[in-house]
Amino acid sequence: MNSHTNLTQFIIEQQRTKPQSTGDLSALINDIASACKKISHLVNRSGIIGIGGASESENVQGEVQKELDIITNDVMVEHLNWTGHLAAMASEEIEDIIQIPEQQPKGKYLISFDPLDGSSNIDINLSVGTIFSILKCPEGVTEPTVEAFKQPGTEQVCAGFCVYGPTTMMIITTGNGVDGFTLDQDVGEFILTHPQMTIPEDTAEFAINMSNQRFWEPPVQRYIDECINGVDGVREKDFNMRWVASMVAEVYRVLTRGGVFLYPLDNKPSTNGGKLRLMYEASPMSFIVEQAGGISSTGRDRIMELTPEGVHQRVPVILGSKNEVERIISYHQK
Ligand code: AHG
Ligand code: MN
Ligand code: MN
Repeated sequence: MNSHTNLTQFIIEQQRTKPQSTGDLSALINDIASACKKISHLVNRSGIIGIGGASESENVQGEVQKELDIITNDVMVEHLNWTGHLAAMASEEIEDIIQIPEQQPKGKYLISFDPLDGSSNIDINLSVGTIFSILKCPEGVTEPTVEAFKQPGTEQVCAGFCVYGPTTMMIITTGNGVDGFTLDQDVGEFILTHPQMTIPEDTAEFAINMSNQRFWEPPVQRYIDECINGVDGVREKDFNMRWVASMVAEVYRVLTRGGVFLYPLDNKPSTNGGKLRLMYEASPMSFIVEQAGGISSTGRDRIMELTPEGVHQRVPVILGSKNEVERIISYHQK
């Protein structure tokens, strides 16, 4: 019989390499994994228990919430607010930051999360996921406000995401590369199946929502035109295209076989400044992509160096295989 490393064992062994570690981060990652197992179960049963539809409410960004957006947000909050590892939380689904209840102890970390990414895919049975980013609460701050969360992505101590697809997977980094775990549904454990994931430097695959083409800036127009021209154009090779409309699935694909994923700046008023949110989508995904040897940029700036101005600030995202993203950045410089 093969002996498998599970997530708990993996993070405790990593913790032992840092003698100053208190074990708080390991415990927090385990709590997040428990929440994600619950969400995986709910997503899987959503049709049967009748929670797969739209709700009657909108979130702070004016998007109609799915029932599961609200339920998965509650699962994250309820799994994390009593543990004593967090000083405050931020979520896509809640306008302001989420305080730890007064009767519960506070910890030294801050978490921001997208409880259900790609939720437009719920009713068509495609992959969705959960994204999270962990920061240290600034020294001396006992009553965190949104100001405590205004830290650049380079300050993240851990970032990860779960994808609820044909299998449920958790991808995680604490700054020592990227490791992937598959949920063994029978036992309820995440098993290390994809150690030290790396993104190939070159690719012939891009992911972008082509329906926005007329709204893009010239550098992105140029890059995509050149991909589409294939062997007949300056790139002298054919490209393939994918668009799942679920960032977790796209980033997982990029981690597995390379590629570029773009949600660029466009001039659509509804996506002013980009579509994806810096704090709980772009920043954690950028940490993961960089740790796997890829690049993540707005086209002009390294996303990891951006400090959010608010919980729901949007940002253009261009990430993936090193040589392709460098090319797109160079087009923005011309
Ligand atoms: P969310 O479901 O959390 O709002 O995020 C959806 C995001 C992202 O996952 C995906 O890449 C993008 O929105 C899809 O946008 P389009 O529908 O504009 O293609
Ligand atoms: Mn999302
Ligand atoms: Mn979401």
